[in-house]
Amino acid sequence: MAFPPSFIDELVSRNPIEDVVSQYVNLKRSGGNLFGLCPFHGEKTASFSVAPDKGIYYCFGCHKGGGVINFQMEIENLSYPDAVRALAKRAGMTVPEDAQYESRYRQQERLWALHAEAARYFHAQLYAPAGREALNYALGRGMHKSTLTTFGIGFAPDRWDGLIKALREKGYTDQEMKDSGLVTVSRENAGHMHDRFRNRLMFPIIDVRGNVIGFGGRIMSDEKNTAKYLNSPETLIFNKRKNLFALNLAKKSKQGYLILVEGYMDAIALHQYGFDCAVASLGTALTEDGAALLSRYTDQVILIYDGDAAGQNATKRAIPILEKAGLQVKVLQMRDAKDPDEYLKKFGADKFRLLLEDSSNRVEYQLNAIRSKYNLGVDDQKVKFLQESAELISTLSSAVQREVYGGRVAEAAEISMDAMKLEIQRARKRRAYQDKKKQEQIDLQPAKALQPKSRDIRYDNLKSAMAEENLIAQILREPALLSQVGGLEQSEFSSALLGKVYSQLLERYRQGMDVSVAVLEGLTPEETSHIAGILQRQQEPVNEQAFQDCVHIIRGEHQASGIRSEDDLLAFRDRLKERKGMGT
Ligand code: UTP
Ligand code: MN
Repeated sequence: MAFPPSFIDELVSRNPIEDVVSQYVNLKRSGGNLFGLCPFHGEKTASFSVAPDKGIYYCFGCHKGGGVINFQMEIENLSYPDAVRALAKRAGMTVPEDAQYESRYRQQERLWALHAEAARYFHAQLYAPAGREALNYALGRGMHKSTLTTFGIGFAPDRWDGLIKALREKGYTDQEMKDSGLVTVSRENAGHMHDRFRNRLMFPIIDVRGNVIGFGGRIMSDEKNTAKYLNSPETLIFNKRKNLFALNLAKKSKQGYLILVEGYMDAIALHQYGFDCAVASLGTALTEDGAALLSRYTDQVILIYDGDAAGQNATKRAIPILEKAGLQVKVLQMRDAKDPDEYLKKFGADKFRLLLEDSSNRVEYQLNAIRSKYNLGVDDQKVKFLQESAELISTLSSAVQREVYGGRVAEAAEISMDAMKLEIQRARKRRAYQDKKKQEQIDLQPAKALQPKSRDIRYDNLKSAMAEENLIAQILREPALLSQVGGLEQSEFSSALLGKVYSQLLERYRQGMDVSVAVLEGLTPEETSHIAGILQRQQEPVNEQAFQDCVHIIRGEHQASGIRSEDDLLAFRDRLKERKGMGT
């Protein structure tokens, strides 16, 4: 935001959106637009569009959109200034110094360097005399020496200031140590600093760009009264929901799918046994951010959570999150071992590979789950089993799949295939009827369909908002129309967002600067996406008469909103008068 506008203008013009997007997405021309598979959600048909003339991208599937800077931010998970820096570098431009962003970026760089230093220190300690027990523990759990190196496993000695001293020697300040989360300030002993991780086996957490961003530390026993793992707190560089353990390695895998497990040790064991596509979440349930990250590297995920009830619940919750991100999900059920780490040690890689090949898709998994709820020896339970299964199978769009799974259920319940088919057909009809009902409801409420997809942007006056959208779309395509707004003001807009956009565009136009989505400032990603969506959906050519109509409607609605309240006042006064009249 504090970059000079003229610099941003040049940056945008020197980074054509189609060139930047092409680095990540295979685009094909179709009319004035380019289309490709959306990099932000998994999909099989191209609904991701790039409009070179408007300088925007927009996905008709997931509704993400914006200008070239927004794209760079989204695709590389960068902050605004970092995205600007990356694009500047790409175009061979020098970024004007900006104190605020500059310092934040420097701070990040220092924290990355500090973490790298800490990782080196912990790793060295593992091989120091004090690390003897930790090394034995790691080897005793079956980690090879090469695994210790690959994952940079380390040891935090049983001291209060081991890391502090090491970092101080390298020139890191107390403030930087506190900011890193690796050093804790004691509350009792006001201001006194000590190492967060003590006497623990250390697992560095590394982001996809290869930066160490945090640590998990495990106690070296199985005592129950201390938390088994201690993790880095959230910091400027560490967000546990947006990162996955071992993804820095797994992203290079040639497997074509990723394995998602619960524990650090599971991911490490899998890699050691040759399954180089394993990643683990960072001690939290899988989030949408995590799923989006996965979908950047694969379109298929095999979930292997622990066999206990907690693991099963986590599986159930993870499936829809992954599917929503466009990922195909398979589930591997652990038997005779509590987790992949234990399984591999007990039965070896070959047995595990068989399990992996056998891992069932979502439907099989869910059918199994339904099956396990009922006792098929009892008639009414058998009926429930059949109905619920038919309900699930009826959601499949492929007739072949319905036949296959229907057959399996029929077999399990010992009924004829014909009876099962009938049951599935009934469920399909019911579903079709419900869908139709839903559609009718939507058709009856067209207003609802016009509301923005993002819940944070609501239109209070739809009629005016539609005119405002139209007006903005026209301006973005033909900025010269801004000379014909006849004094239309931001305050006349019914939508705060659209008013804000309008005033920014008008201001830029008056100053002779670029007018485009790419240069809008101070909007959230949802807001930017919404504006890009408006522009990309509006296909009618620019038309001065239509433009004037929009101005007219916005004005009219604004005035009416004022008059309405005056009307109310008048009516109220009249009623008062009447009452008085009646009383006398
Ligand atoms: P697990 O207990 O399954 O961990 O917890 P694990 O990796 O298999 O560890 P081992 O085999 O007992 O050594 C799964 C994950 O949950 C998080 C960690 O990320 C762990 O890897 N966790 C667990 C914590 O953050 N804190 C805890 O106290 C326990
Ligand atoms: Mn384990």
